[in-house]
Amino acid sequence: MNLKEATQRAAQLREEINRHNHQYYALNQPIISDFEYDILLQDLIAIEKKYPSLQVSDSPTQRVGSDITEAFVQVAHKYPMMSLGNTYSVEELREFDNRVRKTLDSEPEYVCELKFDGTAIGLTYIDGILHQAVTRGDGERGDDVTLNVRTIKSIPLQLQGKDYPREFEIRGEIFMPFAAFERLNSEREKNDEQPFANPRNAAAGSLKLLDSKEVAFRGLDCFFYHLLGENLPFETHYDSLKYAQQWGFQVSEYYKKCTNIDEIFDYIHHWEDARKTLPYATDGVVIKVNSYAQQRRLGMTAKSPRWATAFKFKAEQAVTELLSVDFQVGRTGAITPVANLQAVQLAGTTVKRASLHNADQIALLDIRLHDKVLVEKGGEIIPKVVGVDIVQRPPNSEPFSYITHCPECGAELKRDEGEAKHYCPNDAHCPPQILGKIEHFISRKAMNITAGEATVELLFNKGLIKNAADLYKLKKEDLQYFDKWGEKSAENLVKSIAESVKIPFAKVLYALGIRYVGETTAKKIADALLSIDALANATEAQLLAVDEVGERIAKSVMAYFADESNRQLVEALRQAGVQMVAEAKEQLSDALSGKTFVITGSLSRPRDDFKALIEQHGGTVNSAVSPNTHYLLAGDKGGSKLQKAEKLGVKIIGEDEFMRMF
Ligand code: IVH
Repeated sequence: MNLKEATQRAAQLREEINRHNHQYYALNQPIISDFEYDILLQDLIAIEKKYPSLQVSDSPTQRVGSDITEAFVQVAHKYPMMSLGNTYSVEELREFDNRVRKTLDSEPEYVCELKFDGTAIGLTYIDGILHQAVTRGDGERGDDVTLNVRTIKSIPLQLQGKDYPREFEIRGEIFMPFAAFERLNSEREKNDEQPFANPRNAAAGSLKLLDSKEVAFRGLDCFFYHLLGENLPFETHYDSLKYAQQWGFQVSEYYKKCTNIDEIFDYIHHWEDARKTLPYATDGVVIKVNSYAQQRRLGMTAKSPRWATAFKFKAEQAVTELLSVDFQVGRTGAITPVANLQAVQLAGTTVKRASLHNADQIALLDIRLHDKVLVEKGGEIIPKVVGVDIVQRPPNSEPFSYITHCPECGAELKRDEGEAKHYCPNDAHCPPQILGKIEHFISRKAMNITAGEATVELLFNKGLIKNAADLYKLKKEDLQYFDKWGEKSAENLVKSIAESVKIPFAKVLYALGIRYVGETTAKKIADALLSIDALANATEAQLLAVDEVGERIAKSVMAYFADESNRQLVEALRQAGVQMVAEAKEQLSDALSGKTFVITGSLSRPRDDFKALIEQHGGTVNSAVSPNTHYLLAGDKGGSKLQKAEKLGVKIIGEDEFMRMF
């Protein structure tokens, strides 16, 4: 295929993939299988790889995001992002309707919509191409999160049809469906990270991640509900939603025209219950005057439009008896107290258990056994105990005494200063913790071994694996223990384990699960110390010299290697062929020897390319600007790093100047 043929084929593929994205994400009606879709995408990736000039920024291949991380640039909203008046009361909603009718002196038509519980986003499109995505911020200015938003598959990078305005803004709500939320939180708990309290926080947090590749894995989604621009080709909000849908935006199908307040109440009453069956969180209903002319007549207050309001659903609560308290030991040893309750109906489900969070929370609410407790299910999936009815307290009750020893292994619990949770320090022998370590070891960002949690648990419970190194001893025949375990899946697992010995040392280091050594730190340590032996014998001073390693991490690394069982594990992994040495870097010159660089802003190529160049010429790359930085390599839109470099008088260079250095 020559360049001309490749150009044609790429354009064809892009159009086809965009069409399928629209079918799948906006219309929920895929017309080809996932497998067929993947083939198209792989074809396009292959062409763009061969001819990088064809890799345009709005190509569907760019959805996976890039590695560029940058503090966000602030952008002024063209139209301020206002909030909405809201109410929980039927009476106030009547008053809203009365005010509207009085001002207009006629009967308005309304549109009712669900109020999605996520985080607001404003997208600008120019000539049908996604130009910029900005968060609410303070309403006047928000963060430019375009790179992250591009990874959300239901957001069109290029619009369908031709009749869209040349430039306009569309606003919507980015949210995390319940399923993605639960998956994310269980992964976070396993990795010793604080779980998100609810899908809204998870969505907002994900949108502000610095690594858009990671955003792509978070399963975010978006519904659109507000169009802004000059000379829009319609005169009502209802029509704007219809058009938006045609252009490829995902608009929730549940909007409805209502011509009087009773119809609005019917809509609210219906959704008060029906919303419980939706796969994403909603926290109310938004009521908007349909006609743009009428909206203009009603105008705005300083904070919100007078033509719209929100009716919010109450968080549901129930009272029930606290029967007993269980203590769960997490994968990292963290202890979570869980209330066993007299079964009670709440938000459409029977609730028998609820979270009590930690010892402080129990003490704060003075929760005692056999109390009548108030349970709430708000945006959160797991209900929580939010209060106690002291009046109904049994006369002989006593303050709750928290456990002192691990319910799984009997070790004495510890609690670090400033930490909310107790934890079991017996990480080498406490069963849920061993299992957690193995699960972390095989996870996607670590050794990327394709086994599910259930499989690992089964292998562990059957005694086939006692630690991560045992995985490498598994044979296809060992998996005969499993009912219904097909020969093919057994073969795949064994193959995936065998493949993992090729995983680079930095990831192996992350896979070991040394406390506080996350993905980035592992990479920094691997780059600096180059082998597990050097690391195991490193002094504290040597560790502290590594970029981003502070005392807490250095101490944790030393404690890890001081433990004989950890050294044995490392040895067993080495015997199995797992990489314990960093790959040798190709050295081209020493032109940059002794020079430290920091990279910022968007450059013409991925940041890793520049990092590789610097290292190949003997220089080092750090993540933060400090007085020791020699050069800041700055692309477009450099944020806080640029400011810091200017302040510290660090030399700032562009791409051209940089390339001339070697
Ligand atoms: S309309 C001027 N419609 O709720 C009109 N907002 O509390 C602006 N929201 O800022 C918003 N679902 O983040 C609108 N169907 C919907 C919505 C919705 C959720 C959010 C949005 C807004 C906030 C107001």
